[in-house]
Amino acid sequence: MAPPAFSAALRRREPLRADGGTDSFRLVDGTGDGPEFAGMILEDYAGRWLVQTDDRFLNSPPAWLRGVAASPRSIYWKRLDKEDRKAPVFWHGERLEGPFAIRENGVRYLIDFSAGYSQGLFLDQRENRRRVRELASAGARTVLNLFSYTGAFSAAAAMDGAITASVDLSKRYLDWGRENFRLNEIDPAAHEFYAGEVFDWLRRFTKQQRRFDLVIVDPPTFSRDRSGKVFQVERDYPRLAATCAGLVDLGGRLLCSTNHRGLASGDLGRMLAEALGPGWAFESVPMPADFTGVAYLQAVWATRNQ
Ligand SMILES: C[S@@+](CC[C@H](N)C(=O)[O-])C[C@H]1O[C@@H](n2cnc3c(N)ncnc32)[C@H](O)[C@@H]1O
Repeated sequence: MAPPAFSAALRRREPLRADGGTDSFRLVDGTGDGPEFAGMILEDYAGRWLVQTDDRFLNSPPAWLRGVAASPRSIYWKRLDKEDRKAPVFWHGERLEGPFAIRENGVRYLIDFSAGYSQGLFLDQRENRRRVRELASAGARTVLNLFSYTGAFSAAAAMDGAITASVDLSKRYLDWGRENFRLNEIDPAAHEFYAGEVFDWLRRFTKQQRRFDLVIVDPPTFSRDRSGKVFQVERDYPRLAATCAGLVDLGGRLLCSTNHRGLASGDLGRMLAEALGPGWAFESVPMPADFTGVAYLQAVWATRNQ
């Protein structure tokens, strides 16, 4: 039997479904939904559930999940293990044949549980993607999306008419981004996709004196490219943000975020204020309401007013 806190967690998310534009949410966020969920995260991707557990759960998620009244089409299970990053495994219901589409604020995205440790979309950026869409519809015409992964921010911007440039080390993820565009009936050929290291591309854009209405920076905590070049949030974010700031048009915006748990709350804002200097207004935004647990994602919107 599901613990009573489970129905409470589902009820808490009901208002988020009200406008019908979104079918994917975090349903349980560890102890944020009750002490009985310590070490467990449950996400709903359009009726396919992904349960993630840490080593407090030995060899499977809690058995009661198989009998819940909400009855998802499928349940996949992933062990939360940063050292051994494996794709989710099938656990209950229908076995998925391949990628499938979900919907978020009217934009569709491809999810693939067999793609590896990450499934194609980080639900914690939902509100920032919504804001990107709003800015595009309010006139932001040119958007640069760095560390673009599967191009979710780019697709959101393109949905409302922006022309986007996406940069990522991985050609495979850039191709996934193109698929996300097609899924929304946007021609990827009208947009730019650049494979390679972010600083290398920033150097080129700076030399070309390119300017954007919006630059999006959401890097991983740590990465290494093929040549061995390392990116590390604590060390490299200030230089990264300052370089990006130089590409933002007057009145334009820079969205910076990080999920690095080594940074204390407010650290990203302080780092940016120092790196960008005067001439910028800053706004920190909270995580989406379905993320009831640790507020690990910091996101700051900076507007260039000089
Ligand atoms: C955490 S994901 C970014 C998530 C993405 N911003 C989103 O909202 O969907 C990290 C991405 O950065 C890319 N990446 C890591 N280091 C990079 C670098 N130095 N230059 C370009 N891309 C990089 C990875 O290939 C991966 O797709």
